[in-house]
Amino acid sequence: MTTVDWPTVSKQFSQVAGELEQETVSSVESLEQFRIKYLGTKSIFKDLSAYLKELPAENRKEAGMMLNRLKVQAETLFQNFQQQFEVVSTTKKNEIDLTAPGYPFELGSRHPISIVMNQIIDIFKRIGFTIAEDREIEDDWHNFTALNTPDDHPARDMQDTFYIKNSIQYLLRTHTSPVQARVMTRDKPPIRIIAPGRVYRNETVSARSHCQFHQVEGLYIDEGVSFADMKQTLLYYAREQYGPNVKIRLRPSFFPFTEPSAEMDVYYGLADETAHRITKGTGWLEILGCGMVDPAVLINCGIDPEKYSGFAFGMGIERQVLLKYNVPDIRMLFENDVRFLRQFRSI
Ligand code: PHE
Repeated sequence: MTTVDWPTVSKQFSQVAGELEQETVSSVESLEQFRIKYLGTKSIFKDLSAYLKELPAENRKEAGMMLNRLKVQAETLFQNFQQQFEVVSTTKKNEIDLTAPGYPFELGSRHPISIVMNQIIDIFKRIGFTIAEDREIEDDWHNFTALNTPDDHPARDMQDTFYIKNSIQYLLRTHTSPVQARVMTRDKPPIRIIAPGRVYRNETVSARSHCQFHQVEGLYIDEGVSFADMKQTLLYYAREQYGPNVKIRLRPSFFPFTEPSAEMDVYYGLADETAHRITKGTGWLEILGCGMVDPAVLINCGIDPEKYSGFAFGMGIERQVLLKYNVPDIRMLFENDVRFLRQFRSI
């Protein structure tokens, strides 16, 4: 027994088809309403398929096909709407939202070597030293000869010095002392300069030394400059840099370009394993070499040693970074690991 006839059902189909054609979607909500109406568990197609069962057998096949076509049509339409809608919502996303909080702006930090270098410069500037910077590729004369370093001095050895390829004349400076020679041949005393910069030595890289490092040279030439002036200047430096209670000691040493010569140590202590290692178990860390400028050097540079005298010093920067910031290994300064460098942000 059939209760529904084909013309009624077919009319309903055309009505749904007509409705489908009219559909538009303008918001997430209307997209969802569309889905519920045509694709949900209680969609219009559910009612229509219920009718199908009540149709006379000869109409069922055609009705089934019509129903399927309508379903596919609704499905496709839904996908189109969805796509359109995604485009709309991403364009919305790209619009500038003036109320959104700003992106965090990451400020870089200074490298600890630059930090300490700048501190040294500041300290010496306060007592009248000016900055003299010069080249890193030096000639043999300024790096060695003018500084009274004889031809057979071990420092000239290929083992210690990086020579420029195919040249015995040009090299990567092994210390900042050639700046002394450059300034003394150029300027008349009184001379009071510091020369910060990078230096190179053919050394095995370890926790304590590197083949590339930094020094600050100091030079003071005038009438009547004495060893006591040097000692007081270096003590002033140590107090400014490490605090008024710092302990220093000067040990006799030798450099071809100073006479007498000394090395200055700062007390680091023996608190932990790192302290033992970097001070070789003594508690003292050597930070600079110094001495009275050898009269032979003054003569090489055209300054009268009868009239003038002076002192010079050359301090290593890396060692002092280890000392100030408790860095256990010099190699950390050259790895440029941002996790290490970020720790110096606030300094
Ligand atoms: N140029 C020496 C060095 O590199 C340090 C130094 C500088 C010593 C000036 C005395 C005077 O070890």
